[in-house]
Amino acid sequence: MRRSDFVYPEGQIYLDGNSLGLMPHAAARELRRRADEWASRAVSGWDDWFDLAERLSPSVARLVGARDHEVVATGGITVNLHALLATFYRPTSVKRNLVATSLDFPSDLYALKSWADREGAELRLVESRDGNTLTTEDVIAALSADVALALLPTVLYRSGQLLDVETITRVARERGVTIGWDAAHSVGCVPHAFHDHDVDFAVWCHYKYVNAGPGAPGGLFVHERHHHETPGLAGWWGHDKGTQFEMRGDFRKAAGAGAFQIGTPSVLALGALQGALEVFDEVGIEAVRARSLELTDRLIALAEEQLPELRVVTPREHAARGGHVALAHPEANWLSLALRERGVVPDFRAPDILRLAPVALYNDEAELERTASLLRELLDSGAHREFAGREGAVS
Ligand SMILES: Cc1ncc(COP(=O)(O)O)c(C=O)c1O
Repeated sequence: MRRSDFVYPEGQIYLDGNSLGLMPHAAARELRRRADEWASRAVSGWDDWFDLAERLSPSVARLVGARDHEVVATGGITVNLHALLATFYRPTSVKRNLVATSLDFPSDLYALKSWADREGAELRLVESRDGNTLTTEDVIAALSADVALALLPTVLYRSGQLLDVETITRVARERGVTIGWDAAHSVGCVPHAFHDHDVDFAVWCHYKYVNAGPGAPGGLFVHERHHHETPGLAGWWGHDKGTQFEMRGDFRKAAGAGAFQIGTPSVLALGALQGALEVFDEVGIEAVRARSLELTDRLIALAEEQLPELRVVTPREHAARGGHVALAHPEANWLSLALRERGVVPDFRAPDILRLAPVALYNDEAELERTASLLRELLDSGAHREFAGREGAVS
């Protein structure tokens, strides 16, 4: 779709955009621009850099269906999650427990558990019936009267299932459960409507489908109905911009989600994000989603037709599918290493998932067909078993 806008690795088929997206030329340009400004302007560069994160908000807001002042690019997922839990997790004697799922990315569970332990509360995990996916029914059943806050993934990082954000959020709100979403695996490939769906808060990264680079600043959303709240982890970067440099002892928070920033951002990293967002401003997230579904449809069809040994664990329905396809096989780790040796870059999630993320902006059907035929050859020849015991050798 926009492959020439990216630095595509020579001779490879890159299907790992759900872990680290490729570098857009615009990101490289903006990164260089900010580095040059550092060289030429030194401290006076802050005249321009001071509100750079806020200036990116319209582009970020379009990705998640928010009003501009409901988002800010800052921190990382785990850091932002702690900052928002410090604000929105307010256990009472009646409503005190936390809900997440057994299929969550571990860092979210570590963060939630640390808060549950601090409050002497329980972290309850919604269990999967099949080991890979969740049912809306089970998630909703967990939102009981003693639950204060639930943090759920929009897209599950292993199976690629997209949860029903709208329905789950509605039920949580009806039951007085504060609801936050980890949108790491959906922002940049699935459109959201966080404002209209009345989500309380959300966190995500920009290093996967948004292609803003390793360790790029993350994003957070706080619904405007919460903008009167004082941030639980206040810092000077969340101060009202107009008076921040008056250096007063009292914290006057910024008007919107910017109040949840904590300290000085990396201007170089924000530069890369600015460039990466240009591509989305031009293409639009709806077009990205349409193309992503075409590609994952094709990949699922190839797997079903040519690779019956691999079990497609990603839901077939578009409404329940994120941007990657997960294929289960007991030798998935060796298959992923053998693919890498042959120029295809997938990733592997223990114990048995081969994840392939055809990115709408730069992958195409021919690459998926080539990947399927390489997998067919490996399964027929058993050549991937050469990696038995050598799992650490290539990654
Ligand atoms: C779903 C999910 N949540 C949380 C994280 C942790 O993100 P961070 O390292 O930015 O805190 C990741 C990292 O890949 C992730 O995929």
